[in-house]
Amino acid sequence: MAALSSQITSIVDGGDDGWGVLYKAREMEAQGKDVIVLAIGDHDFPTAKPIVNACTSALNAGRHGYGSITGIAPLRELIATRASAVHGIDVNPDEVIISMGGQAALFAACYSTMDAGAEAIIIEPYYATYAQTIRAVGGKAVIVETSADDNFQPEIEALRAAITPQTRAIIANSPNNPSGVTYTRETLEGIATLCREHDLWLISDEVYHSQTYETDHISPASLPGMRERTFIVDSMSKSHAMTGWRAGWLICPTPEAAFRVADLFLTSAYGIAPFIQLAMRAALAAGKEPEHEIAQRYRLRRDIAVKALSASAKLRVVRPDAAMYVLIDIRGLTDDCAGFAEALLEATNVAVMPGSSFGVSTAGHLRVSLTAPNDVLKDACGRIAHFADEWNQP
Ligand SMILES: Cc1ncc(COP(=O)(O)O)c(C=O)c1O
Repeated sequence: MAALSSQITSIVDGGDDGWGVLYKAREMEAQGKDVIVLAIGDHDFPTAKPIVNACTSALNAGRHGYGSITGIAPLRELIATRASAVHGIDVNPDEVIISMGGQAALFAACYSTMDAGAEAIIIEPYYATYAQTIRAVGGKAVIVETSADDNFQPEIEALRAAITPQTRAIIANSPNNPSGVTYTRETLEGIATLCREHDLWLISDEVYHSQTYETDHISPASLPGMRERTFIVDSMSKSHAMTGWRAGWLICPTPEAAFRVADLFLTSAYGIAPFIQLAMRAALAAGKEPEHEIAQRYRLRRDIAVKALSASAKLRVVRPDAAMYVLIDIRGLTDDCAGFAEALLEATNVAVMPGSSFGVSTAGHLRVSLTAPNDVLKDACGRIAHFADEWNQP
């Protein structure tokens, strides 16, 4: 039989990347067990009714044909207009490309900046698909570690040391999944300086920009000399509880870059369904209040989770200032976070993600997704704290 390309067989490099706990939890659910799944960044509440209604109205109105490849004009205009408030930059609608979620925007940014053999620097802890996406475009991910002691802010000198003649891009994700940390202005300025000095692209993943609780969001694209070298990855998955809609976009550095990126969409998705785009437009046209309401929900849950987890003196809770996750440092108990997560699931029916899934910097940690109603989350975090207190290394 003809062989599949090494291009496709090398995207995922084996191992379960910590997903084993989630799969086990789903299995237990299928067996009728009452499991609290806090292992994935998916909301426990549905998309708001007006957004759903905008989609069904478009479907009922017969919007079943092709949408434009790069997105319908009114949606791109709306995204361009709101970019100054969200990212602090001027955006031309021609620079916006609607994509299947932030993931497709990330793929497009990597594809646009890296030839085969090129390197991109990713910063730990990182969103699980980064290295795979870089491999999918034929590139190599160069990983830079951070430390819990520095609150997972990258050291600029460590990033500088990772740059080689093959480096084409740095991927930055602030607010960060899984740490819930936002990079300081100083960190972002350091990254921007490296990009300017070494003529690198910056791929800025800002999908959690609406969920900042302590500080205002800073987009690195707004820093001097960065607009024209930054691709912004954005999405409504987290901000508007629309994960399944695959509603995202890429803001390109220039109209010329966007003109080329459009070729990728011509040869792949060929545009996003118009009824999805009309729902996206309705959601964004409603202004900031709906996303603010979702952010406030997660802020309250963050406080509930931090309090309940802090009841155990054995756990160190990394209090997040953004996003929808809480990291717990369990190194005082064990280095084997995957083993601990499995034992936790077995004993308490609570599923969380081992920190090792996001790089070695978060080994010895667990990521708790805040994706359950307040009382359920409080109960689950109480079980985690109790389990930690009782834990005896096998
Ligand atoms: C940091 C980060 N970037 C990108 C994505 C992908 O988002 P989407 O669902 O819009 O593809 C996620 C999803 O969890 C994420 O956490």
